[in-house]
Amino acid sequence: MPAPLIAPSILSADFAHLADEARAVADSDWLHVDVMDAHFVPNLTLGLPVVESLLKATDIPLDCHLMIDDPDRWAPPYAAAGAHNVTVHAEAAHDPRKLAKDLRAAGAKAGLSVKPNTPLEDWIEVLRDYDTLLVMSVEPGFGGQSFMPEVLDKVRTARRLVDTGHLTVLVEIDGGIGTDTVEQAAEAGVDCFVAGSAVYGAQDPGRAVAALREQAAHASPHRTSTTRG
Ligand code: DX5
Ligand code: ZN
Repeated sequence: MPAPLIAPSILSADFAHLADEARAVADSDWLHVDVMDAHFVPNLTLGLPVVESLLKATDIPLDCHLMIDDPDRWAPPYAAAGAHNVTVHAEAAHDPRKLAKDLRAAGAKAGLSVKPNTPLEDWIEVLRDYDTLLVMSVEPGFGGQSFMPEVLDKVRTARRLVDTGHLTVLVEIDGGIGTDTVEQAAEAGVDCFVAGSAVYGAQDPGRAVAALREQAAHASPHRTSTTRG
């Protein structure tokens, strides 16, 4: 299992100073970019031109989370632009297997996300074609919402499927992650933790990233031998 990855979400950053906000979390593993289209979710954020500018402004790998309709059409250009991981929603994709191939062919890792009420069972076969599973722990659309612990059952299932070799996805969680919730998510088997308000709402975002990483590493049962030894 890889060391825990921390992905600050720039949804909670200052959109007028994104290059500075990326610099403030220079030690983070991925930079999470929430793309919302006001159709799939009731909010509107940013799109490909901003991602292209961010790619020039930072070396942190971009983790683009597309909360949009028709990702089959709109997601591959994010991969082609240079995003490290491009995640689409299972609920929105028309042909998720073909889409995973298209994302990989365009040079990115392919991610599939499930909303809190979407069962994982329906997507396990499809996930064989994906690199990342993003489990939403809030209803997508807004930062600063409360963590939904009931989604951890999906994390445990995914962790088991990965540990037994049935899937090879990295397990990522998004929504309500902070110092009070990161440990239970780590215990359930999360590899990558998205955190928006917990990072950019902190006095020192860089310190907040390091603190979350430390907490996650210590709480993960899979990593005790390397982190506590
Ligand atoms: C919500 C977004 C999240 C959001 C998380 O739809 O997908 O990435 O930024 O924000 P927090 O960490 O504040 O819940
Ligand atoms: Zn997100």
